Amino acid sequence: MSSHGESFPFHIFFFLIPPATLPVFLLLLLLLLLFMAALFSPRGIAWSLDRRCSFIPGAGGLASVLALSGFSAHRALADLSHSLSARHLMAFSIGLTRFIVSSHPETAKQILNSSDFADRPIKESARELLFHRAIGFAPYGDYWRSLRRISATRLFCPRPIASFGDFRLEIAEQMAEQVTVLMGKHGQVELKKIFHFGSLNNVLKCVFGKSFDFWKGEGMELERMVREGYELLGILNWSDHLPLLKWLDLQGVRKRSRVLVEEVNVFVRGIIEEHRMRRRICRVSGDFVDVLLDLEDEEKLSDSDMVAVLWEMIFRGTDTVSILLEWIMARMILHPEIQSKAQTEMDAYVGKSRFVCDADIPNLRYLQSIVKETLRMHPPGPLLSWARLAIHDVHVGDHFIPAGTTAMVNMWAITHDGAIWADPDEFKPERFMTDDVNIMGSDLRLAPFGSGRRLCPGKSMGLAAVHLWLARLLQSFEWVPSARGVDLSERLKMSLEMENPLVCCAVSRNS
Ligand code: HEM
Repeated sequence: MSSHGESFPFHIFFFLIPPATLPVFLLLLLLLLLFMAALFSPRGIAWSLDRRCSFIPGAGGLASVLALSGFSAHRALADLSHSLSARHLMAFSIGLTRFIVSSHPETAKQILNSSDFADRPIKESARELLFHRAIGFAPYGDYWRSLRRISATRLFCPRPIASFGDFRLEIAEQMAEQVTVLMGKHGQVELKKIFHFGSLNNVLKCVFGKSFDFWKGEGMELERMVREGYELLGILNWSDHLPLLKWLDLQGVRKRSRVLVEEVNVFVRGIIEEHRMRRRICRVSGDFVDVLLDLEDEEKLSDSDMVAVLWEMIFRGTDTVSILLEWIMARMILHPEIQSKAQTEMDAYVGKSRFVCDADIPNLRYLQSIVKETLRMHPPGPLLSWARLAIHDVHVGDHFIPAGTTAMVNMWAITHDGAIWADPDEFKPERFMTDDVNIMGSDLRLAPFGSGRRLCPGKSMGLAAVHLWLARLLQSFEWVPSARGVDLSERLKMSLEMENPLVCCAVSRNS
């Protein structure tokens, strides 16, 4: 105890420690101090290491680790930025990585639309899974620009999307059949698997020109591979933020990624070879593999780059679409009056003598509003899943942001902000019948596909499938809850999923 203002004689401790263990002791002490600094310093340790930064309200290391490691990171970060009055910009650290997050449309727009944030931070899992050679994680530069141009003109523009209309209809038919079969067998239906297979087949047909049987052999295998990829990319991997842990692979992410990438290589290279063999006999250009094989000169891709690009398309096009459909159906069951209003609209514009098709969708405004309202309440990428990276030192508002900072937009916080949306927690598609908000990236009040240079290129393809399949399911069946009811609990992994898969009952509207 100190007395008469004298300080505690700490040096005595050092005499008590055997000299041989002193270096180890000092190292442990240093690590402990660093750990405490990481946990309790405002904005965390990564920000403390850079003295040039102007003050940004920030969450301490412990608070941000807790926020990001749970399954509700979007909610935890929204609460933190609210409590710190930091909607425009909040800073925090995970290990040695600096983060900023914006929960305000204006600042979000500034970040997403700036070329200074046109790069993405690349996680170890993404690199191991080849994504650094595909559109989503390729560094901002010529290679990325060339991939975006090719896919924008040959896959994601209106003509190819329209040309796959018949196939979307076929999938809608298969989904309706599956619902009838499962209702007959079990008296209830779990929609998640049906949607996952439907969206997987949809993207496979556009990209590879082939599809698979529901629930069988290769199709099941591919479905498992996509799920494993999502698991791996969704993990908060400490090796990404603490360089010392890089070699240890404590969470086994590297090991699992390497196993998966082998399987992906075998599968996708097999399909590329099938195409090469067919083209030797007859040179018809049909799907996206043909488009890539037709590239010439400096645009030509190596086989491993082709695998990366094709695998990413399958991967990105599957989960987002099926997760969104599951949320929409949950809402339809919870709000029977909204479901019935959509069916009345459909009966009026399409009638009962034929099935709904792509050409009907522009007339189904209420159905489109249901999709928008679900994207508002349950955005599949609430933190715009694939964050951005500051390429240069840059200012956001008055704040200096050093190069290498990871930037996120909390789209969930924006779409649940009472200052922007009236009754933000209520499901009200009617709000979009009067206020026709553009959801394609120009209005940051609701930008579920992101915005700016790295805006989602697959948004029209995804929405074409969601609108058509939803319309068909509502046209053919009335949807009611099963004994389990509807549980809206969320789980944020790579995307924002329903924690408990939706199990419900479908009653035919034609009987
Ligand atoms: C409901 C469906 C979908 C949603 C909600 C969605 C959402 C997103 C979001 C939020 C981003 C990040 C945008 C940004 O950083 O500003 C993104 C990027 C991307 N999406 Fe989508 N997406 C959907 C469907 C699709 C589909 C069907 C495909 C392809 C088949 C696709 C391919 C991609 C690619 C390649 C990127 C990376 C773009 C880049 O970095 O340049 N997405 N998506």
